[in-house]
Amino acid sequence: MLRLVNKFSIQPLSMPEAQAPTPRDAQRHVPVMLPEVLRALQPETGGIFVDGTFGAGGYTRGILQSANAQVIAIDRDPSAIAAGQALVKEFAPRLRLVHGAFSSLKELLAELGVAKVQGVVLDIGVSSMQLDEAGRGFSFMKDGPLDMRMAQAGKSARDYVNALSAEDLANIVFIFGEEPRSRAIARAIVKARSEAPLMTTLDLVRAVERATGPQRATDRTHPATRTFQALRIFVNAELDELAAALLAAEEVLEEGGRLVIVTFHSLEDRIVKRFFTARAGREPQGSRHQLVAAAPPPATFTQTEKGAVAASEAEARANARARSAKLRFGIRTAAPPTPLAPEAFGLPRLEKH
Ligand SMILES: C[S@@+](CC[C@H](N)C(=O)[O-])C[C@H]1O[C@@H](n2cnc3c(N)ncnc32)[C@H](O)[C@@H]1O
Repeated sequence: MLRLVNKFSIQPLSMPEAQAPTPRDAQRHVPVMLPEVLRALQPETGGIFVDGTFGAGGYTRGILQSANAQVIAIDRDPSAIAAGQALVKEFAPRLRLVHGAFSSLKELLAELGVAKVQGVVLDIGVSSMQLDEAGRGFSFMKDGPLDMRMAQAGKSARDYVNALSAEDLANIVFIFGEEPRSRAIARAIVKARSEAPLMTTLDLVRAVERATGPQRATDRTHPATRTFQALRIFVNAELDELAAALLAAEEVLEEGGRLVIVTFHSLEDRIVKRFFTARAGREPQGSRHQLVAAAPPPATFTQTEKGAVAASEAEARANARARSAKLRFGIRTAAPPTPLAPEAFGLPRLEKH
């Protein structure tokens, strides 16, 4: 059984080929569940808060406006960092904006001389700017290069789609897209690329449609939706990033500090739920997930809300993206973190099927 990990290397801090940000960027991403995020995070004057997914800065702005606190914001996308410089100036000297992956948040904070913080928030997934920009290659609705790299560096979707075996492609589409027609889609991709390499998003859409047929009036979503989701998650190693970030946040949060995570699909939410379940001491005693089976380690988080918080009806009506949002949060105890086996997260594995 193979572990499905495409090693995500931490990107250099330069911004070589960043796509030029536009002034419209800041307006284009509507922050999801901002009031709920601020209620869970409880920014306080004098505190340092990490926004690990800066995007268009919606959460960062909310934190900076709600308390005289500092924010260290991180994004792996150089375009987000470039567009965020106006916000850095607006809130100087309270906002520091750092290019990097949130899985490395402990190291990124250490480079700034910061060891402990009072809060960490993550808003998982792509931003509207990334989705809307055809040149980024995230959307099956816009023709553009088959790219999908949030960090604008490393291997792109085009590299993988044209090189991986049919079996690997099927597994990626099945596991990260939860696509029941994964095998047929993978075969169709391999057939299409034997005629000509798949270079654009529409090339991939057409290849998928060879297996599924075009969208029918009765289809709620386009047949390529799940394939695009799967490749995006794979290209950006999104689930591994999330699991690593939860552990890093646990290390940098001081006692009483808050970890707030907003996710948009079940694969992500399951990782967050399992992390909090294990770390809030609700793991059944003797679970195989705990390294010390007999005596569960002391809880590193408490949770006042055990379930996920959803967006308000009004927000869900106004913003389609909010409909699938789930917020979970925990409050850091004083207990030191203990090792957590990767299985505890339920990270998907690449299995033959
Ligand atoms: C949903 S958007 C965040 C939107 C933001 N909360 C706002 O209100 O504008 C997610 C952002 O996180 C970034 N991102 C995703 N995965 C990341 C990772 N592993 N490390 C750092 N940034 C990441 C993306 O590039 C994107 O800009």
